[in-house]
Amino acid sequence: MNHRNRGLTTLAAATAIVSLVLVASEQSEAQMAVPNAEANRFSPAGSRLDPETATPQADAAANTRSATQSASEPISTSFFREAPAAFDNRTNGFDVQGPDFNTLDEDNVVPLRSFNDNRFIFEEVEHVEDGLGPTFNAQACRECHQNIAVGGASQIAEHRTGRIELLQFVESAGGSLIQSRATNAEIFERVPFEDSVGTLRISTNTLGAGFIEAIPNDTLLAIRNAQPSSIRGRALEVAVLEANNVTRIGRFGWKSQHASLQSFAADAYLNEMGITSPLLPEENTSLGRFVGFGTPYDPVADPEDDGVDVVAFANFMRATKAPPRGTITAAVRAGDTLFNQVGCTGCHTATIRTAAPGTRINGGALRVRDAVGNKIIHPYSDFLLHDIGTGDGIPVLPGADFASTASQIRTAPLWALRTRNRLMHDGLSFTKQEAISRHAGQATAAKNAYNALSQAQKDQVLAFLDSL
Ligand code: HEC
Ligand code: HEC
Repeated sequence: MNHRNRGLTTLAAATAIVSLVLVASEQSEAQMAVPNAEANRFSPAGSRLDPETATPQADAAANTRSATQSASEPISTSFFREAPAAFDNRTNGFDVQGPDFNTLDEDNVVPLRSFNDNRFIFEEVEHVEDGLGPTFNAQACRECHQNIAVGGASQIAEHRTGRIELLQFVESAGGSLIQSRATNAEIFERVPFEDSVGTLRISTNTLGAGFIEAIPNDTLLAIRNAQPSSIRGRALEVAVLEANNVTRIGRFGWKSQHASLQSFAADAYLNEMGITSPLLPEENTSLGRFVGFGTPYDPVADPEDDGVDVVAFANFMRATKAPPRGTITAAVRAGDTLFNQVGCTGCHTATIRTAAPGTRINGGALRVRDAVGNKIIHPYSDFLLHDIGTGDGIPVLPGADFASTASQIRTAPLWALRTRNRLMHDGLSFTKQEAISRHAGQATAAKNAYNALSQAQKDQVLAFLDSL
């Protein structure tokens, strides 16, 4: 929604734009790719990775010492601090907390002013006159990202479909995402009979996402390079929309299809809510049929958001705290050791360090702020794609570059696992045991090693998982 409180909003937006331009001009070599409709979604239209580099005190090696490091390894941790973790709707320090959340309303909210203002925008229910739809999945980010604190995961799943033609994946007309709601029954998306490939994708957690965004590319590459070839993951390069599609290693979403929270937010605003913004100005179709502004179905000209909401969503997520651990008992500690021993941490990386404050990330569009820089996090993911036999058949994008992503899924981050009861990308595993049994392919050895444990040991691993 575009808010009435324009004075401050515009000022804040202008500041954001000025700093973006400044950064971009320092780095003109990053400006290479011309956006086009397809590149605007996830494709690596830029031809090389962004030039973010780990700074001396946060070099790749230091960033990837994982939980496997022994206490005898003397590494300099003096620069690094544990990331703040809590389900408390409080800022991690990225932005100030701001006015009492309960005093905010549509008229006095000031996007980008504070954590609470941005949380209000993240929670705000959109309507047709704000640009909602014509096809959409829900009216607010919070509808799907709420549990336990705002920004968390939920039981809501979205639906993707397509079909195979001449051995090639072909998306449903208008894109593989089938929106499950519409503002008018005439344009509601019904899955075509020919679409034989389909999957659900359950809502993921965004709490702590700012720390994940601040992981340098080099760190993810170092994790990958250290993996034995039998479990080696794939670092997918994806376009950063706000940096002229220069590429960076993806880390967000079930297929690591985005690298930046601003890009993901623009994508979600369009694809979940039907609201266009400067980064993604083209309205969604109804199964390929144009239903945007100028048709009877959409009264709002594009872009429907001036871009400020998208930055507010991104900054809200950047300012959230990491999911906290539950109670640590003796069984949990024993399970932690076993989880490591049977090889689960080969992909579910326990500990990662973020880049130093000031590091330029997201193709140069963002500098790491103090609140998220030099932090130690425990996401239990390498953010890489793996084939563990659960691939849902739907690639990130059609075409040769992405074909193999049809059978790959990002290692699910296990932090906040204890707040979820529908597991795996489709949400169709209802217990941790079922989720573990679905691990095959690259995860076969780890699963077999888990299966070989005694029941008492398995119970300890499960107790450990329940503490995440
Ligand atoms: C209808 C439910 C729904 C709504 C509304 C929704 N999301 Fe999501 N969100 C999802 C699902 C499902 C996924 C996982 C999708 C995937 O990866 O295929 C997701 C993933 C994400 C992720 C990636 C987190 C990770 O796993 O790394 C971010 C960031 C995100 N959403 C932000 C937003 C923002 C911002 C909004 C509001 C503009 C929003 N979402 C609205 C369902 C929703
Ligand atoms: C080769 C990499 C790899 C290894 C090794 C591995 N996993 Fe996974 N794990 C994944 C991937 C990829 C997913 C997501 C799969 C999906 O959603 O289809 C996943 C998902 C999970 C989930 C579901 C999480 C959620 O949020 O839904 C659990 C629980 C889990 N793994 C536990 C384990 C345990 C326990 C082990 C060791 C026995 C293990 N994993 C070993 C890659 C791995």
